[in-house]
Amino acid sequence: MAEGMAESAARASGCADVVLALERVTLNFGGLGVLDEVSLALHAGELLALIGPNGAGKTSVLNCICGIYRPQSGRIRFGEHDLVGRRPHDIASVGVARTFQHGELFPHMTVLQNLLVGRHSRIGTRPLFEALFTKSVREAEVAHRRRCEEVLDFVELSALRHRRVADLSFAQQKVLGFARALAMEPEVLLLDEPSAGLNRDAREDLARFILRIQHEARIPILWVEHDMQMVADLADRLYVLDHGRYLVDGTPREVLSHPDVVRAYLGGVAMPAGARADARCAAATVAHRREPARHRVHALATIATTGAST
Ligand SMILES: Nc1ncnc2c1ncn2[C@@H]1O[C@H](COP(=O)(O)OP(=O)(O)OP(=O)(O)O)[C@@H](O)[C@H]1O
Ligand SMILES: [Mg+2]
Repeated sequence: MAEGMAESAARASGCADVVLALERVTLNFGGLGVLDEVSLALHAGELLALIGPNGAGKTSVLNCICGIYRPQSGRIRFGEHDLVGRRPHDIASVGVARTFQHGELFPHMTVLQNLLVGRHSRIGTRPLFEALFTKSVREAEVAHRRRCEEVLDFVELSALRHRRVADLSFAQQKVLGFARALAMEPEVLLLDEPSAGLNRDAREDLARFILRIQHEARIPILWVEHDMQMVADLADRLYVLDHGRYLVDGTPREVLSHPDVVRAYLGGVAMPAGARADARCAAATVAHRREPARHRVHALATIATTGAST
């Protein structure tokens, strides 16, 4: 079934409103197969959640799109651009911005400086021209700075703009990573577990920012996420990877109740009949916390019987 679906995904990538498409992307490291003919299409204005168990290949998909990894075969189309073989800064300059699973900020620079540095990869520089520091360069710098200040305002970090990143809380650093991607004024945004490690309030703030970006700026977003409740609430569509292969895609309701998805997350433990949607989400999220299988089963059973969500 997976192959047939992958083919239809590849065909779908030819639709007029597809912004970003992977077509049969295969990635190996030595003998280790990481992605196996993965086809995926992100549509205009869409919030597409890329989910799957640990090690499924989600971050590798983003790394292939951004030029950090080079797939052995397949194509990655972004508008008129074929991204395979292009360098990361080149891909950033055509409008692809991302956040990283593990920070990647400059800890000794200020919040504002981090955004300005991020913007340079998108906007570009002309060193000789800048050395002269002409009036137009000064004006451009002022405009860059204003744009970064607007982004900080948007993510409610303005008050911290002159703080060193190293002095920020973990949650503030996560939001800053998101802001840095936004400051690049991307045409497509890739998020790698932006909510990981955040408490409930910080997750709610993040959810608000993501929705506003999608609805107001109409930026399509490919969002790697482990919090199943968040993706069920926010995403237009879910796409599931398992062991580097396409498993299924569809609406959150379709995907989270799909038996193959339950199997992939819960290692073959059948979802109890009648388990509520929020229980399913919580169970899948729990399964991602790298807990041993017996704990996952226990959590699932508890959630299913009490209806509690974590
Ligand atoms: N640079 C690399 N060299 C060797 N193996 C790699 C490399 N990058 C990823 N892998 C392997 O590829 C597989 C997929 O990794 P990836 O980080 O894409 O998974 P993931 O779905 O993002 O997992 P997680 O949910 O834990 O973040 C893993 O087995 C990982 O060890
Ligand atoms: Mg990852």
